[in-house]
Amino acid sequence: MYTITVIPGDGIGPEVMGATLDILKASDLEFDFQEARAGYACFEDTGTNLPDETVEMAKNSDATLFGAVTSVPEQKTVGSILALRKKLGLYANLRPVKSYPGVKAVYDDLDILIIRENSEGLYSEIEEYTEEGATALRVITRKASERISHVAFTEALKRGKKRVTAVHKANVLRKTDGVFRDSFWKVASEYNQMDDYRDIETDEFYVDAAAMFLVTDPYRFQVLVTTNLFGDILSDEGAGLVGGLGMAPSANIGDNNGLFEPVHGSAPDIAGKGVANPAAMILSACLMLNFLGEHQEAFKLEEALINVLEQGKYLTPDLGGTSTTEEMARAVREIFEK
Ligand code: NAI
Ligand code: MG
Repeated sequence: MYTITVIPGDGIGPEVMGATLDILKASDLEFDFQEARAGYACFEDTGTNLPDETVEMAKNSDATLFGAVTSVPEQKTVGSILALRKKLGLYANLRPVKSYPGVKAVYDDLDILIIRENSEGLYSEIEEYTEEGATALRVITRKASERISHVAFTEALKRGKKRVTAVHKANVLRKTDGVFRDSFWKVASEYNQMDDYRDIETDEFYVDAAAMFLVTDPYRFQVLVTTNLFGDILSDEGAGLVGGLGMAPSANIGDNNGLFEPVHGSAPDIAGKGVANPAAMILSACLMLNFLGEHQEAFKLEEALINVLEQGKYLTPDLGGTSTTEEMARAVREIFEK
């Protein structure tokens, strides 16, 4: 029995979450789904966009599923998902960039993993106004850089990848990205000597070149590991290569917790219409199942989705179809159940 904290959030969050839970309930595994609140509606009701209770529940469960939230513009604190990542110590953000059959993409047969350092860098939120404008502090530590490099190698092995590429800008950001780069190579030299890892190549790219090659020749990449801001940008670029936000899942991993969420937001333009693509949330659930060690079930769920995408009969409008979120999810569920 797995205890899962479920945070539906706002807008299409509850729509794609509901659809995904319906599918997971058809699994042979037993789940205890415990609903918790975060986001804009929560803020309006309770005065906070991230109640302590939600953080506690997430800390104490086997994993957390997060839908999407609308940010609170008038609020001076950080968004609930950023705060939750920090409070749970989720230092690694894993973003698969994978093309699926039946989904219009710039490239077919892409399967890259972008690993973004999630805890520091330019998102350390140390900013201040100066007389001329403002400055932000970019914090890069050896600890976090080595930690994320370890994640890159272990994930590469798990997924049968043969190359790990560090992405940085050490030619300009000599000190901060110098630390990141050196930390990466230190960790790489350890893994290079281990039997299991011996045939995983390692290389590095400057972030601007990596951004270009992602568009012109993405097949040269298998696992990319990079700092917070670069990872944020490159992974959205990656999502754009394989069918857009409706297809992009993510995992936030720490030493003790995992939180799984679609890359997209609350999509107010389509919220309430029942037409949101549930695939990104379903694929996030696949990432969760893998995190829980339920690889067979994860594979089955992804295969069920692939089947529906290939058939092309029950697709939401963003995928060129006319189905609702529920109809598409039901089609996935029926195959998953078999
Ligand atoms: P968004 O991701 O919500 O929407 C961007 C565009 O993609 C919209 O046209 C939307 O309809 C479409 N889209 C997104 N997900 C889709 C899906 N599953 N199926 C079909 N179409 C989909 O980003 P936007 O509009 O910039 O932000 C809306 C709100 O969401 C804002 O308050 C923003 O701060 C928040 N946000 C929250 C995130 C989170 O909860 N992790 C991440 C990104 C934005
Ligand atoms: Mg982003």
